[in-house]
Amino acid sequence: MLSSDNSNQERQSLHGNWSSRLAFIMAVTGSAVGLGNIWKFPYMAGQNGGGAFVLVYLLFVFLIGMPVMMSEILIGRRGRRNPVATMALLGEEEGGSKHWKWLGALGVITAMLILSYYSVIAGWTLTYIPKAISGQFTGADATLIADLFDDFVSNPAAVISAHTFFMFLNFFVISRGVKGLEVAVKFLMPALLFLLFVLLYYSLTSGSFSEGVSFMFTPNFAALSWDGVLTAMGLACFTLSIGMGAIMAYGAYLPQETSITNAAVSVVVADTGIAVLSGLVIFPLVFANGLNPGEGPDLVFKTLPLVFGQMQAGVFLATIFFVLLAFAALTSALGLMEPAVAWMVESTNYNRKKSSAIIASLIWFFGLGTALSDNLLSEFKFFQGTIYENVDFITSNIMLPMSAVFITIFAAWVMSKNSSSEELDGHGVVYKIWQLLARYFAPIAILVIFLQAIGWI
Ligand code: PFF
Repeated sequence: MLSSDNSNQERQSLHGNWSSRLAFIMAVTGSAVGLGNIWKFPYMAGQNGGGAFVLVYLLFVFLIGMPVMMSEILIGRRGRRNPVATMALLGEEEGGSKHWKWLGALGVITAMLILSYYSVIAGWTLTYIPKAISGQFTGADATLIADLFDDFVSNPAAVISAHTFFMFLNFFVISRGVKGLEVAVKFLMPALLFLLFVLLYYSLTSGSFSEGVSFMFTPNFAALSWDGVLTAMGLACFTLSIGMGAIMAYGAYLPQETSITNAAVSVVVADTGIAVLSGLVIFPLVFANGLNPGEGPDLVFKTLPLVFGQMQAGVFLATIFFVLLAFAALTSALGLMEPAVAWMVESTNYNRKKSSAIIASLIWFFGLGTALSDNLLSEFKFFQGTIYENVDFITSNIMLPMSAVFITIFAAWVMSKNSSSEELDGHGVVYKIWQLLARYFAPIAILVIFLQAIGWI
């Protein structure tokens, strides 16, 4: 996927370049589409009352997510290093200061913390593959499916083993570079999409489709708190993989002639489409089976197996679905690990393998907190709740929005118009809209929502 032909650029990435625009779009889409769309979006929409949350989330995706993503890609491509070095370099070059490197570091650390729990949930997905193959969902009712899940997460050894296995997979792929990923993304993403459509057909005919749709699209603003708005914003950043240096790291390998705007639009549309599709699959099933949409992180694991268990080719489809979900999680996880690994390779004399091993071990260790949140440490609650709830809240609702604010400030205020317009293809209307959103709307909106949610205004 990465080729080393970057002779037509002034500055060169140490890691080579994407072979084409499509390769970049697929890598970023692979990073964007993951557990956030299929696991997190439905459960958070469910917890925050549905319609109003979904509407606010969609607004944030286009008005905040899009300009931040464009900013992050343009910074990455201009610097062509790991996020920390890129921010230091451009900070100095654009007349600011090299202390901007701390913004790069914030992204790298956020990504590592997110991966620490992401890996645990991806481990749940992996565990569901053998459960699917052995037909454990066949004919099961809602109680049985719920018990299956609860028994699993209350077993620390099982959860930690799955987390360990997933981190090992991550290490295995990333230590070898990302060559095989293009193939994976090219075939697996369309396959996942196809399966989602099969499930959509099922939920369409399951009887409660209109109830599910109205839950998702009828905005009831009374059901949405400021905390919910903050959560929607954090989720928008999370599902688009922005504010973590991942897109910046991938942008560093983007050929100069590729249009950043087109790439960003493709990724945002694909990512949001898959999130909405997942909701359309899950909520009708929730209502058809008398389940609670506010169930929380367990939602997907307690709804989809139920449906697979009632389908004709359920064993087969369930197996494929969880395999694909695990792959989607893997392509996302690699994006979360790449910034830290790229940083370590560039700033120490450790090679890629050693750097990957160190970073993976650190993340694995942090992940134990989440792995134990549903069992041994389930009573250990502070601030937002369990360790998982705290790591998620702090990363998605505080670190990501903060990082997004500073990324837009850097791209739209600190960088010269010459530099940003060169990356964004001139001064046309798209550039003007980006500038307006990145200069004013995005940073102000993020700050206001953030301060509202924490009660400062
Ligand atoms: N966007 C991914 C998801 O929705 O599952 C999560 C993610 C992946 C975030 C990669 C950040 C990242 F760098």
